[in-house]
Amino acid sequence: MPVPEFMSDQAAGLRRLHPVSPVRVIAVASGKGGVGKSNVSVNLALSLVRMGRKVMLLDADFGLGNLDVLLGLQPEYNISHMLEGRCTLQDTIIEGPLGLQIIPAASGRKRMADLPANELMGLVHGFSQLKQDLDVLVVDSAAGIAGNVTILSQAAQEVLVVVCNEPASITDAYALIKVLSQDCGVHRVQVLANDVRNGIEGREVFEHLNRVAERFLDVTLNYLGFVPHDEALRSAVKRQLAVVHCSPGSPASQAFADIARKVDEWDIPRVPRGGLEFFVDRMVGMPNLAAVG
Ligand SMILES: Nc1ncnc2c1ncn2[C@@H]1O[C@H](COP(=O)(O)OP(=O)(O)OP(=O)(O)O)[C@@H](O)[C@H]1O
Ligand SMILES: [Mg+2]
Repeated sequence: MPVPEFMSDQAAGLRRLHPVSPVRVIAVASGKGGVGKSNVSVNLALSLVRMGRKVMLLDADFGLGNLDVLLGLQPEYNISHMLEGRCTLQDTIIEGPLGLQIIPAASGRKRMADLPANELMGLVHGFSQLKQDLDVLVVDSAAGIAGNVTILSQAAQEVLVVVCNEPASITDAYALIKVLSQDCGVHRVQVLANDVRNGIEGREVFEHLNRVAERFLDVTLNYLGFVPHDEALRSAVKRQLAVVHCSPGSPASQAFADIARKVDEWDIPRVPRGGLEFFVDRMVGMPNLAAVG
């Protein structure tokens, strides 16, 4: 199925606008809900900003977004307004702490929770028009294995799976990685153990997941590290602040800083062009989306 004409026009326009370094797109996912994806997304994004990177955070929990609540922000528009034609994707961008750019999602919009492919395509179209000069786009996904999650993970260069030391979290992380590797062509996944007591427990969680994945799946799991259980994080959530912003010396904040340093050392994405084109091109190229183009 050919790429829709407007997409190739946009891609050509972007090639002129962004001749330089590629944007690294990191999708944060988990399988089970409530394991800390949104906190990881926000605090990783802010730690990268602290290192001087230009970062955008996309709330891809389209039906139950809460990054704005997490950070005490009051956006005028969100992605659902953009898809209704009430604003552009550019209009939805709000500034968070330290200048972090955030694209908020709707909250309590059931229809948005599993966007039909043509609407996800509208979002892709919006991305192709963004003018921001970015180093990293962090995508905070919804829990589970719905189409939105797998499509965005498939389009990102790196998928970061957050897992806690609970049987259901490990089982659901495995289920997500299975779908990504068997159905979506994802063959490398970064694993972050969250809310664990210490590095030993974090490593054990990873080894547990890795043993099963190595045995049954064609995928490489990389251990990205751990974030300890930290009351400072819980208290930051209650105050609608990011822990790395309000308690930079706390154990969780230091762990996020270490993880951001590792992320920053990953190889530069091997893509021929800059901007968000790579992300956009990959989504456009997906059979399940291209079919509606
Ligand atoms: N490292 C941690 N230390 C202490 N508490 C934590 C930690 N990580 C997460 N939490 C707690 O877990 C809660 C849920 O975190 P978060 O909203 O980031 O999860 P989520 O995976 O994004 O959830 P959902 O699947 O609903 O989107 C936080 O509000 C916080 O209270
Ligand atoms: Mg969340």
